[in-house]
This record gives sequence, structure tokens and C-alpha cells, in this order.
Amino acid sequence: MKGIVLAGGAGTRLHPLTVAVSKQLLPVYDKPMVYYPLSVLMLAGIRDILLISTPRDIPLFKHLLGDGAQLGISLSYAEQPAPKGIAEAFLIGEDFISDTPVGLILGDNIFYGRGLVDKLYEGARLRDGAMIFAYYVRSPERYGVVELNAEGQIASLEEKPTLPKSNYAVPGLYFYGPDVVDMTKTLRPSARDELEITDLNLAYLKEGRLRVSVLSRGLAWLDTGTNRGLMEAGQFVQVIEERQSLKIACLEEIAWRNGWIGAAEIEKACGRMGASAYADYLREFLAREVRE
Ligand code: TTP
Repeated sequence: MKGIVLAGGAGTRLHPLTVAVSKQLLPVYDKPMVYYPLSVLMLAGIRDILLISTPRDIPLFKHLLGDGAQLGISLSYAEQPAPKGIAEAFLIGEDFISDTPVGLILGDNIFYGRGLVDKLYEGARLRDGAMIFAYYVRSPERYGVVELNAEGQIASLEEKPTLPKSNYAVPGLYFYGPDVVDMTKTLRPSARDELEITDLNLAYLKEGRLRVSVLSRGLAWLDTGTNRGLMEAGQFVQVIEERQSLKIACLEEIAWRNGWIGAAEIEKACGRMGASAYADYLREFLAREVRE
């Protein structure tokens, strides 16, 4: 399974914050936003990752993350010149995907909590068809909304409905078999001139090849697209990290736990991270877990 982080977009709801820089490079408490979705793919065991962003922002992402060798992963980059829809990621990533299954995560989605890794493994095992998730929210009308029948199967799926048929929003994390590129090529742009991820999922649903998995309430799914959402996500990360003295989305920690890097890489990362709390955490982690 390969992975794509889609981190383009105009971020208009966050202007002026995002006039000069990508939303996904803004801080969520102690690290750039893109760390969080990247950590989710890594937690799923995915090592071959394509990051898609705007021509303006790609040099910044490269500066931040390089080719991924420091994390034991392979990171490549591709441009999305204009925000023409989430499903466009599969056309941009056609050569990268080749004939493998792929997981897609939106660069502004944060997941944390109980049962996450099991759900991720479930997605990463997918070889054919498609898998989406469902998360109970108060205001589903801003998202794709999935309605489930008594058997837990999909009864309907709609993009930003004015009258949602359920409270289950579809988070920005999706898994597909290798035919996702061909499936995307059958789509036409929507009224807002985007290749809609919901249309792609509906195409799989029509063929009886779309699965849904409900995320439990013990799991947090945060959306950072508005000033309030961004601030709340930062506060959430701060509260959890200070309470537990564990970091959410520490990429080096995840890479080490996956067996992808050793103590030497963590030491180097400490050097790069200056006098930050992130560097302190890595030093403690080295002493506590790696060298014990
Ligand atoms: P959105 O929140 O739909 O769009 P945006 O980030 O441009 O923000 P705004 O609505 O404020 O203008 O995007 C969700 C995520 O998907 C976000 O991480 C950006 C990414 N995205 C792309 O990279 N390309 C796209 O074409 C679209 C639609 C989204």
C-alpha cells in the first residue's frame, strides 16, 4: 500500500493566514499541520508516500521533510496547480500509484485516539474496491455524509447536503484498490468545477465495492480548516501532550517504533530541531526507550 497526502488548496477560510503560505504548514501547537496526516499514513505502515501541494508551497514542504530518508520512508512530491478537487490526487499520482493500492489523507485532517491503528491496518489491508470511514458529528452538512442501514451498510452518500440524512460525516482518509486511477478517469467535474471524492466513492458504491467503517467516539477527528478549528486542534494537542508527556505525531518516534530508523537517526533529528520542546522530547525518548 502506498500513500498520498493531499496538501494543496487555497485555504480561503483561513485568510489572511494562508495568503502567503499553505494551510498545512501552519502550526498545530508544536508542529506543522502536515506532520499529523503524515503520521497517520506512517502508523498505517505506509512508507512510500507522495505529497501533493501547490507549485508555490512544494519547495517549503521539501525543505521541511526532504526525501523522507531521515524517517526511513520515501517521500516524493507532485504539484496540483489549482484546487480542482480531492479526487484529482489520483490523476496527479497516476505514475506513483502504478498498480498498487493507495491510501489518501487530506493534509488538514487530524486523527488521534483509541482504536486508530487498528482502523488504519484495516484500511491498509485493502487490495480491491474502496474503504471510507464514518464519524458522528454535530454538523455533518459541511462534509460528505454517509447514511447507514441497520446492517451497517451504506444506504446513501451525499456531498455537503443541505438536509443531511444522518450525522455521519466522511473524514478525509480513504483507501482504494489499484483501479482508483481508472475509476477517477470516469468522473466529470462538478458544478463547482472539482473532481469530487464523493463522486468517486459513489462510483464504487454503484458497483457494490465501497465499504464503510465507523470510527468510535473514543477517537478524535479534528478539522483545522477554520480559525476556530485550528485553534481548538492546537489546544487539544497541547492538553493531551502535557497531560501524558507523550507527543502526538512525533514522526521519528513512529518511524523508530516501526523499525524504520535507529538511534543514530533520532540523534541527528535532535540536532536539527534546535532548542525546541520537540528536540527535548526526542532526547528523552532516546534515553527512555531506545537505549534502555
Ligand atoms: P478544503 O477545506 O475543501 O479546501 P481548502 O483547504 O482550499 O480551504 P478553503 O475551503 O478554506 O478554501 O480542502 C480540504 C483539504 O484538501 C485541504 O487539506 C486542502 C486539500 N485540497 C487539495 O489539496 N486540493 C483540492 O483540490 C482540494 C479541493 C482540497
